[in-house]
Amino acid sequence: MASSTALNLEDFQSVDLMTELLRRMKCSTKPDKRLILVGPPGSGKGTQSPIIKDEYCLCHLATGDMLRAAVAAKTPLGIKAKEAMDNGQLVSDDLVVGIIDEAINKPSCQKGFILDGFPRTVVQAEKLDEMLESRGVKVDKVLNFAIDDAILEERITGRWIHPSSGRSYHSKFAPPKVPGVDDVTGEPLIQRKDDTAAVLKSRLEAFHKQTEPVIDYYKKKNIVANLHAEKHPQDVTAEVQKVLS
Ligand code: AP5
Repeated sequence: MASSTALNLEDFQSVDLMTELLRRMKCSTKPDKRLILVGPPGSGKGTQSPIIKDEYCLCHLATGDMLRAAVAAKTPLGIKAKEAMDNGQLVSDDLVVGIIDEAINKPSCQKGFILDGFPRTVVQAEKLDEMLESRGVKVDKVLNFAIDDAILEERITGRWIHPSSGRSYHSKFAPPKVPGVDDVTGEPLIQRKDDTAAVLKSRLEAFHKQTEPVIDYYKKKNIVANLHAEKHPQDVTAEVQKVLS
């Protein structure tokens, strides 16, 4: 017997059902992929992720977005994470490992995932390996968004976000049609609290000290692909496609 909470497909528009059906048909032919995106703040991980996600039917797990949602909802996790995030420091390994361990079980991660902003320490990388080993899978590729620090301040301080969708704009490099307004919903855009020149300095320090060793960790496994993240977004997308094809 159907449960009383089951979805009634008659309530959906035919065009939506057809779009979803076509998406699933396209996805069924795609190979599974488990990817990690690593790079300093503003290097373009969040810009490229939705494109890779759509192309390969993967889920996009961005620990920064997950933590910001927890902070906004004032959950116990968010309360613990807030101070470190506001100061541009890393949140404790245990907190982020826990959220990833739970998230990769989601049905949307069935064909694989893009980890954006995780792992950020060698301890996190080792825990991820343990998690994946217990599931009988492994990381296929690590995309290293290599870029000079000097380029990042302009990218970070000019970034505008649509909070509910995660859409990201830039006042100079990717401006919305109307300044301060999301192109799709017409809702206001916001700037992230940690997107200031002062907090960027701490975020970059954390990257060089704690996250660069993660790149070396994966280099030893021969799965790192270096990207020229200073290039135009479309050129970075072309490099990503070449690496993943
Ligand atoms: P998180 O949200 O992960 O921030 P981040 O790594 O600092 O990365 P960003 O989101 O700032 O940069 P991005 O590379 O996605 O850049 P984007 O594509 O938007 O983490 C925030 C905080 O959460 C951390 O500081 C920490 O406290 C905590 N945290 C998260 N994960 C954690 C973990 N695993 N462990 C512990 N703590 C954790 O691009 C930036 C701008 O540039 C945009 O406006 C975009 O339009 C523009 N742009 C992008 N590409 C280009 C291009 N090629 N040319 C010109 N402009 C471009």
